[in-house]
Amino acid sequence: MAEARKAFQGDKGLNMTEIGWLLDHHLTKEQERRQMVEDLHLQPGDVVLDIGCGPGLWAPLLAEKVKPHGRVLGLDFSPELIDYAVEALENEDLKDIIEYKVADFFAVPSEDDTFDLTFFGNCFAYVTDPLKALTEQKRVTKEGGRVAAKDFDGALFIFHPIEPQLSLRVLAANARGLKENPPNPHFDNFMGRKMHGLFLQAGLKDVSTTSYAIQKLAPLTPEAKRYIAGNADWYVKIASPYLSKEDLQQWRAHFDPTSDQYILDREEFYFCMLEVLTIGTI
Ligand SMILES: C[S@@+](CC[C@H](N)C(=O)[O-])C[C@H]1O[C@@H](n2cnc3c(N)ncnc32)[C@H](O)[C@@H]1O
Repeated sequence: MAEARKAFQGDKGLNMTEIGWLLDHHLTKEQERRQMVEDLHLQPGDVVLDIGCGPGLWAPLLAEKVKPHGRVLGLDFSPELIDYAVEALENEDLKDIIEYKVADFFAVPSEDDTFDLTFFGNCFAYVTDPLKALTEQKRVTKEGGRVAAKDFDGALFIFHPIEPQLSLRVLAANARGLKENPPNPHFDNFMGRKMHGLFLQAGLKDVSTTSYAIQKLAPLTPEAKRYIAGNADWYVKIASPYLSKEDLQQWRAHFDPTSDQYILDREEFYFCMLEVLTIGTI
């Protein structure tokens, strides 16, 4: 497991397991994540598995829906993230409902048919074999229970008022960089569009997929600024070998607070990205 963990935390692009990044990500989208959890239609008393739970950001949202007699188990192979999740839980009134464990999501330490719902939040993009992960997810889900996964699709990222042609060149160059020089560890920036088909391929029934446009307008919170600028930085890092010097300079100036081209404080600023939630029944 330690080796798999090391491979996951490689040095290409953003370190998706870094706590600060995961927290900024969560706080930026907390309202939309609450809506996604709402759309899972959990019932009080349900037993839920939060797979790849990281620092425990989804588990409290899930626990709110299943309390007072339900249960949420959060699993992650990073002891640091699980420690953080356990500590954060100390201050929560949900601590009798939530439990966290260090475990690999390809070997969930639970009996077959344990959970009413198993949930992956932002994990499939990093998994080389999502079908294998879904098979394990199915194993621990009760007959008639549901499996769910939420991911994103990196083809839709709008950073207005950057000139659309420049944005499209950066997005296209990023896609080319990912294809010609695949990230190690694995990262699929276009997982969102594939989840519906994956669930069907895994033999799940009543598969439904919902897309969410996550938009952020000015004034941005500090965490939203860091999250959006972090994404812009990641896109251009991968794209840079395929961009002109002018495009690179222009893009970077848009996210440099000392530049008069900086966009994140502008009144007309508009950010939008696409997230996808897929649910299937066993
Ligand atoms: C992008 S993070 C998402 C964390 C959390 N679900 C969230 O949305 O805040 C992906 C998580 O998957 C975990 N992970 C990756 N591969 C794993 C595996 N094989 N077993 C368990 N956890 C894994 C990482 O440690 C990380 O916390």
